[in-house]
Order: sequence, then C-alpha cells, then structure tokens
Amino acid sequence: MVYAGILAGGRGERMGHTQRPKQFLPIGGRPILIHTVERFLHAGCIDRVLVAVPAKWMEYTKVLLEKYLPEAAVSVVEGGEDRNGSLLRVCGYIEKTFGIKEEDVLVSHDAVRPFVSARILEENVRFAREVGAANTMLPAIDTIATGEGEFLDTIPPRELMYQVQTPQSFRMAAFIEVCRSLTEREAKTLTDASKIYRLKGLPVKIVVGEQQNFKITTPYDLAVADFLCKNQPA
Ligand code: C5P
Repeated sequence: MVYAGILAGGRGERMGHTQRPKQFLPIGGRPILIHTVERFLHAGCIDRVLVAVPAKWMEYTKVLLEKYLPEAAVSVVEGGEDRNGSLLRVCGYIEKTFGIKEEDVLVSHDAVRPFVSARILEENVRFAREVGAANTMLPAIDTIATGEGEFLDTIPPRELMYQVQTPQSFRMAAFIEVCRSLTEREAKTLTDASKIYRLKGLPVKIVVGEQQNFKITTPYDLAVADFLCKNQPA
C-alpha cells in the first residue's frame, strides 16, 4: 500500500492570519488543503490519503472534505507538537487502523504545497520502494552562502546546493523502527525525517523538485498561489 500523509498540523503563524491556519485559506476560491489533497487523489500512485490537522480543526476539516471532495475516503488525524510529531501520529494511525507491512510506503507532504506534480509523486513512491527513502529537492537557483553573525562565512559550490521541498517518502516500517531507535535528545532536536535517515547513515534518494512546488508561507506566496490557480489549467 502507498499512503499519503498530508501534514496540516501547523498554526501558520508567519502568515499573520489570526482566524484560520494558513492551510485553510482560499486560493482560486477553494482552501489550500483541498487543492493539495486533490493532487494526491488524482496522482494514480497513492492508495490512501490521510490528513493531520490540529485537534480543534478536525471537525472543520471533515466538513471541508465532505463539501469539496464528497466521493473521497480521506482520514483526518490529530496533528502533533511539531512537523515530525504530526508525521508520527499519521504512522501511528495507519499502524492501528490498517496494520503496516514491510513494503508499505508513506509519502509525507506539506499541506501548504498545493502544486505538487504527478511526476514528483510517482518518483517519490518509486525511489522510496527501491532505496528506502526519498526527498524532493530543488537544485539551488541562487548562489547559497552561510553567514556567521553579520559576516559572510562560506560559499559552497552551487551544484551541491538544494532547497529542500516535500514530499519526503519512505518505507514506513523502517521509518518507525529508526524513530524508535532515537535517544530522547535526538528525538527532540531532529524534526525532519531525512535528517534522521542521514544521522543513521541511511540513503535518501533525490527527487528533483520544481519551482511550482513552493511552500505557501507569507501573504506574498498566497497571492502568487491564488494567481497561479486562476491563470493556469488544473
Ligand atoms: O511551519 P512550516 O511551514 O514549516 O510547516 C510545514 C508543514 O508542516 C505545514 O504544512 C504544517 O501544517 C505542518 N505541520 C504539522 N504539524 C505541526 C507543525 C507543522 O503538520 N505541529
């Protein structure tokens, strides 16, 4: 089975919106989360979609799903403290409800990246099956530098630099095992699944990302996303 864990458990505070977390704000007349879920439902390589949202938004999410995607069987799960906490809640729900087999794959994705393509999803599933883990990454367009206080420190070779996007995908049974092997301190500081894999020396295969797969974080991003929805075919 291939599961999708769409992570919408954040409060989206950087958007400066006080009433609703950003994943529920509309683009092209429909909530961001609905656009994202729809991409997964239409991809053809995903068997089951789960969405992690803050506890107090669970009922609201169910109402939205019923309104916009009445035919779809999407599970709504309570999110966790941080992004990885939400991811682990999704894994826990799957384990309890469906059971997890060795070959089962989880494709985890930020709810606020509604323009993820079918090619990205298909490669995530394939690479996670073949290698164990995959991460979508966009080759750096700008030169990337590190800074030390107020000063430029180093400029690593641009061809080695990427911006990390989602999906991040992995064989779920192995991921749960790796997470259980973390010390309490590691578990607190490592909030990223790929970081955890690399810490353990496990391979993560790159799925080449796309600029359109950007994360809606600021009011500027929201305006761009709204424009894209209204000015391009679905
Ligand atoms: O905060 P940021 O934009 O990096 O969040 C990335 C994604 O992780 C968002 O889709 C957000 O809803 C999700 N998230 C989550 N649970 C949390 C915090 C963030 O699912 N506790």
